[in-house]
Amino acid sequence: MTALTLNNIAWSPLGHGHCHHQFQLSDIELHVASGQFVGLIGPNGSGKTSLLRCAYRFARPAEGEVLLDEHNVWQQSPRWCAQRIAVVLQEFPDAFGLTVDEVVAMGRTPHKGLFDGDTHRDQQITHEALNAVGLRGFEDHAFATLSGGEKQRVILARALAQQPDLLILDEPTNHLDPRYQIELLQLVKRLNIGTLASLHDLNLAAAFCDRLYVIHHGRIVASGTPAEVLTVELLRDVFGVDAFIDRHPFSGYPRITWITHP
Ligand SMILES: Nc1ncnc2c1ncn2[C@@H]1O[C@H](COP(=O)(O)OP(=O)(O)OP(=O)(O)O)[C@@H](O)[C@H]1O
Ligand SMILES: [Mg+2]
Repeated sequence: MTALTLNNIAWSPLGHGHCHHQFQLSDIELHVASGQFVGLIGPNGSGKTSLLRCAYRFARPAEGEVLLDEHNVWQQSPRWCAQRIAVVLQEFPDAFGLTVDEVVAMGRTPHKGLFDGDTHRDQQITHEALNAVGLRGFEDHAFATLSGGEKQRVILARALAQQPDLLILDEPTNHLDPRYQIELLQLVKRLNIGTLASLHDLNLAAAFCDRLYVIHHGRIVASGTPAEVLTVELLRDVFGVDAFIDRHPFSGYPRITWITHP
């Protein structure tokens, strides 16, 4: 059982070309308890992907610390982190020439020695991961030929095959139709491991997340349960859109209806 803690993180894209109104992450305090599904919401460019990159030991914060349980991830090796954290990114990896099977099997890499082949157990885990995302029978397909939604599910299967203690997802439902959006979130929730996911669909966030953090201009501006966080005022301030909020008629979650003026 593994928890993620971001303590007072600051980060800016220094050395990546300067502009005058430079973006930075500041004073980021965030906690994902073991088994919790935590959502990160905020407008385009608010810093979600940047924050997640800090959390999975890709971007090194200028200040603060990222802890997996009591371990500072920057005092651990990339391999140590890959054995514990699986990541599903907004963009697909360059898997030119690989089959679905091969992409999913990559999830086993952090658990193997340099020259180890796939064991029967590795193959079984890969197979189960593909089943879990509804892609049985796609093993030999070339990854590059899949639809966007199929690719997304393969990448999730790779993350499952990694058997992580913590899952980080950057807009995981982006390419998916309604059924697979719901199936993906259900699947992830049932893993019962700590999960930090950026989500744009606030109704899905309300339905699936135990807690939400709201990021705006690189700062956390609100956190709490979906019911605490998703208010008309916050949505207007952060997203600049008017909304009507009531309760979902079946499940009681906050339900957001955007007010549009066509
Ligand atoms: N390496 C970098 N170099 C320059 N600018 C960067 C870099 N990384 C992030 N930024 C800038 O930081 C800001 C935040 O980007 P980030 O990708 O974290 O936003 P986001 O909340 O994930 O947005 P979206 O919803 O569009 O995915 C953007 O303005 C982006 O251009
Ligand atoms: Mg992003």
